[in-house]
Amino acid sequence: MPARLIVEGGVALRGEVAVSAAKNAALPALAAALLTAAPVVLDNVPKLADVTTIRSLLGRLGAEITDESDGSTRIRTVSVRSHEAPYELVSTMRASVLVLGPLLARTGVARVALPGGCAIGVRPIDQHLKGLKQLGAEIAIENGYVEARASRLKGARITPDLVTVTGTENLMMAAALAEGTTVIDNAAREPEVTDLARLLSAMGARIEGAGTERIEIEGVTDLSGARHRIIPDRIEAGTLLVAGAITGGDVTVTGAVPAHLAAIRDKLEECGATIDVDGDRVRCRTPGRPRSADVITSPFPAFPTDMQAQVMALLGLAEGTSKISETIFENRFMHVAELGRLGARIEIDGGTAVVRGVERYQGAPVMATDLRASASLVLAGLAARGITEVSRVYHLDRGYERLEAKLQALGARITRVMS
Ligand code: EPU
Repeated sequence: MPARLIVEGGVALRGEVAVSAAKNAALPALAAALLTAAPVVLDNVPKLADVTTIRSLLGRLGAEITDESDGSTRIRTVSVRSHEAPYELVSTMRASVLVLGPLLARTGVARVALPGGCAIGVRPIDQHLKGLKQLGAEIAIENGYVEARASRLKGARITPDLVTVTGTENLMMAAALAEGTTVIDNAAREPEVTDLARLLSAMGARIEGAGTERIEIEGVTDLSGARHRIIPDRIEAGTLLVAGAITGGDVTVTGAVPAHLAAIRDKLEECGATIDVDGDRVRCRTPGRPRSADVITSPFPAFPTDMQAQVMALLGLAEGTSKISETIFENRFMHVAELGRLGARIEIDGGTAVVRGVERYQGAPVMATDLRASASLVLAGLAARGITEVSRVYHLDRGYERLEAKLQALGARITRVMS
């Protein structure tokens, strides 16, 4: 039954809220468990739809996954039963492609459906494939599937043409079991890549340079089991801080890594918010109407594309005009039309959205188009006068753990209805 969220706007959110673990760190960590027959135990895996999807994929491939009584998730793949990530799962979640590197490295065979398009546009995996070929894999595309084969991968020097997060992760996992040394130049520096490197190292991989643009991996013949705690979700933390800012409230997120939030914190300050950091706590206060600011999204450590929609909702209420540019993703402005239904004045000019701040949003029925767009609509609804009804909430459920409950705890009037 499709769910909708009913948001009654106008309450300034106040209080403290704990950050969940990062979806985009949990997905590669779960996939990495395919690299070994020994158990991998992950603490803090968030309960959200994309995690359910990858769990069901891993289950089909032969992993046994159990929820332990201490809240951890235990994954054990004694043997790989299937080599295939089917289209029905890859088309639901592109990150399913993260099983390609581990399957190939562990068993020498992988068959993964090509992702094709998704709500945020065509996102090819050519750089994953180019890198795997450089590691010695034979790659064929047949009937919409990537078929990869290798007897044993061999270390190589790889320079992806662009910075890719899951591409870097796939290559790092594959190289961990390759013969010899692999160097990935132009690697993604996202904290989620570094977190995966930490897990792989705990499993016995030899990795240096994660978090920089040059990662060096010395292959080993076997990896062991490990226990690993997933890092906090910087995008969820940022979303909750914007919830405070957009309602003129006072929100503190706890259990965060402030360094991962640097670009987001800076942007919120530019918008007029006061940000205080104390250990793992980040507090955001906004006295009045936000100030306009320009935003350019780029790979970490720059401002993340995954926060663009949420910050656009905030800037839509700013005094003055803001320009928001996407340097990589061209199709990440689908929320613009929906924000317009709430009264936002935003025009798209190529890869740039020109946002002319209005004084208030007004509640209206709106439709979520993708994960982060749905968060942006909820945030705008929190600031709007009247009732905003957000449909297609399954997009939100893909990547946020208990977001409504967290917002409610901060005072938001938000309820879920099934229809
Ligand atoms: N690209 C290629 N070829 C490739 C790989 C990427 O052309 O082989 C292009 C993409 O089309 C895109 C750009 O390179 O234009 C960057 O894409 P990237 O590969 O970095 O994205 P991703 O790894 O598929 C991850 C996150 C996304 C996040 C992006 C950018 C995961 C599971 N997903 O995707 O998260 O937006 O990095 O930071 O880590 C989300 O959580 O809502 C989400 C979409």
